[in-house]
Parts: sequence; C-alpha cells; structure tokens
Amino acid sequence: MRGILYFSATGNSLYIAQRLRGRSGGDIRHIPSYDGTGEEFDEIIIVSPVYSFGLPVHVYDLIPRLTKQRPVWIVLNYGGMLGGADGFTYRHCKAHEVDIRGVYSVKMPENYTLVFSVPKFYERATLKAAPKAIDKIASKIEAGIACTPDLKKSSGTAYMKNRPTWHLIVNDFSVSTDCVRCGKCVKLCPMNNISILDGALVFSDRCVICLGCYHRCPQKAIRYKNKKKSDRYLNPDIQESDIGKDL
Ligand SMILES: Cc1cc2nc3c(=O)[nH]c(=O)nc-3n(C[C@H](O)[C@H](O)[C@H](O)COP(=O)(O)O)c2cc1C
Repeated sequence: MRGILYFSATGNSLYIAQRLRGRSGGDIRHIPSYDGTGEEFDEIIIVSPVYSFGLPVHVYDLIPRLTKQRPVWIVLNYGGMLGGADGFTYRHCKAHEVDIRGVYSVKMPENYTLVFSVPKFYERATLKAAPKAIDKIASKIEAGIACTPDLKKSSGTAYMKNRPTWHLIVNDFSVSTDCVRCGKCVKLCPMNNISILDGALVFSDRCVICLGCYHRCPQKAIRYKNKKKSDRYLNPDIQESDIGKDL
C-alpha cells in the first residue's frame, strides 16, 4: 500500500493528495498528527505547500525521521514562485539518506495573501490547469520516472532566514469584534496555538504561519495588521472538514 502524507492549511495539498489517490490508491495521512516513519507503506508520497522557497515546519521535520527503506516521492505546490524549493527539498532528503526518487511541483492558487489579492479570474485559471498537471505527475510516479530538480537554484537562504521569525506573525494578527468565539480556529490550528481565554482569542508562540485560522474563520475576524481585507482562500474542490483528517 502506498502512503500519501500531506500538510494543508487551505486545501490545495489535500486536493492533490486526493487526486493522486484517485489515480492509483493509497492511504492519506495528515502529517501533523502522523508520528510514524512510513515503514508501514510500500511507497511514500509527500504532498506539501511551499513556504518561503522551502517547506512547512511539519514537513521539514518529518523528512529526517522517514524510513530509509522505502522509495519517497514529493509533490510540492506553490502559489507562483517555486524559488528552488524543489532542489532544497531534494537536498534535505539526501542529507538524511531518504530514498528520494523525485520532487515534482505544481502551481496552485496562492494563499499567502495577507497584503495583496489574487484576481479571481487568475485563481480560476490556476485551478482549471491543476488537474492535468497533477495527472501528469501521477503518471510519472506510477511509471517510476525519477525527477531530480535543478540543485543550483536551491540555496535555502531565504528559508533559513525567514523560518525562525514565523512564530512572530501573531504579533501582527488582531481579532475584530466580528469574532463570535465559535472555536473553529482553536480546533483547526495544527499547533494548538490558539485558545479562548476570558472570552477572547489568545495566540501563543508556536505559530507555524500556515494561515489556516486567517483564511478559514467564518467571520473573517482574524486580521493581519488590522487590514479590513475581505478576500480569503479555500480550495473549492475539497470538503473543508477533511482538512487535517486521515482519509
Ligand atoms: C507562510 C507561507 C509561505 C509561502 N511561501 C511561498 C513561496 O515561497 N512561494 C510560492 O510560490 N508560494 C508560497 N506560498 C503559497 C502556498 O505554497 C500555496 O498557496 C499552497 O498551494 C497552499 O497549500 P495549502 O492550500 O495546501 O495550504 C506560501 C504560503 C504560506 C502560508
């Protein structure tokens, strides 16, 4: 059986994981709640968004503990600038002796939209192009076609510089009076970083900047730098309640 391990805040990676499973089966596992090494699977596919030309904390930290005895494929998805994240990921796997067979990438709608908005027509076009690109990757993985990315563009400098400051983003979050304290953000946060204390949302210091709380608040009450920005993103082709589940 193949294991498809994913991390997703706004559904793009879950969509890819489900499409890959639709092609050739597999068990889907949510990386933040997965504490295995992958050895129960014959083959491992990791599906992850790109963060700062690198990887989300949970995905980066999973790679060193993966079994060295199983072939691993990685499918990255990104909003517009891959920035060598494929090479960076490949190197990270090699450094930990993971049997990495290929790092593929596919463009999906951008969710790092705190200070700008993606035009809806562009988002729709990206979503329309995605299935074909994902199916192409699925065929290559099925055929065992290796994919070694260009390692020259993969210094990881931006990632290593940005990652230590990610948790500070909560200092720029505020909660508007639209918050009804429904507790959805508390439940969906992969770091258990949000709580409700004396009727107010409190962010702790473990944020991994996935922006799940920001995008998926039903009231759009979580704001960045108190901007009254109204657009939020959620992949329209998944069930929101499936994000974070093993399927
Ligand atoms: C903290 C953060 C950093 C990101 N950095 C990049 C980046 O360097 N390049 C890029 O093209 N997209 C970047 N993105 C966009 C995501 O990779 C992209 O929207 C992805 O499809 C989101 O996946 P998800 O819906 O599964 O969470 C970033 C998103 C976040 C939240």
